[in-house]
Amino acid sequence: MNTTPHTPYAGKKAVITGGTLGMGLATAQALLDGGADVLVTGRNPQNLEAARRVLGPRAHVLASDTASLPDIDALAATVRERFGRIDLLHINAGISSLEPFEQVTEAGYDRAFAVNTKGPFFTVQRLAPLMPAGSAIVFTSSIADEGGMHGMSVYSATKAALRSMASGFAAELVTRGIRVNVVSPGFIDTPTLGVTDASAEERAEFMRLGDQITPMRRHGTSAEVARAVLFFAFEATFTTGARLTVDGGLGQGLTPAAA
Ligand SMILES: NC(=O)c1ccc[n+]([C@@H]2O[C@H](COP(=O)([O-])OP(=O)(O)OC[C@H]3O[C@@H](n4cnc5c(N)ncnc54)[C@H](OP(=O)(O)O)[C@@H]3O)[C@@H](O)[C@H]2O)c1
Repeated sequence: MNTTPHTPYAGKKAVITGGTLGMGLATAQALLDGGADVLVTGRNPQNLEAARRVLGPRAHVLASDTASLPDIDALAATVRERFGRIDLLHINAGISSLEPFEQVTEAGYDRAFAVNTKGPFFTVQRLAPLMPAGSAIVFTSSIADEGGMHGMSVYSATKAALRSMASGFAAELVTRGIRVNVVSPGFIDTPTLGVTDASAEERAEFMRLGDQITPMRRHGTSAEVARAVLFFAFEATFTTGARLTVDGGLGQGLTPAAA
């Protein structure tokens, strides 16, 4: 029996914003299992502590608000000191509220764009100098980055901007040998379902809706999204500026037979 550990990512250095929960945590775990050095960020102290426990002593877990420029600069300094370079920058931190447009406040609007759009922009700007030729950036957008969904006008706009920004980065970084791609998940079973402030009842209802409208009639798992991220990061060496949906067919205009 072959007992050699399978370590396809040995020697790789990965940074994941919003890596303390859900899909980011699953991607971090897969990278660590594959031998990579991983640094994850998050904000909530309980989630940071839980991530330290789950990921173990090999993981670097850093409190860092992606909406804060000083925090992004501190992140860049920490990564430079601990890793020296980045092979995968996974921009995953994101928030959303389910809010009809009449209820959206200026503060909520600004916060959504600060976390989902401004933070990603300046994270790439400040961390790209640490990325050598052959490295990759993967953004987590959402299938809500196109089309329209009730209660998601602000969230959709932030993710559409993120997706568009990724294309700009892909064009600018291609000459430096850095690939930039986007994963757009559909309904994925994470602790928040991507809806940050929802009650347990609202989340259950959101999940029920997702399972009903998704052609595969189920939600996806964090591990299924992590595989798409890792594909872009290390295997899709002739792909940049692309968007891959992980959505059970939801965003593809399919019309299956009624359930
Ligand atoms: N779940 C879905 O169905 C779904 C679908 C499409 C897209 N998405 C997107 O996928 C990404 C991950 O979603 P998820 O469901 O796995 O999320 P999640 O369980 O809510 O986790 C989000 C992660 O982002 C972190 N985060 C939030 N605000 C942050 C900030 N200001 N600074 C740093 N980190 C921050 C969270 O950490 P703390 O809580 O500790 O701050 C957490 O680690 C998000 O961008 C989300 O919009 C989710």
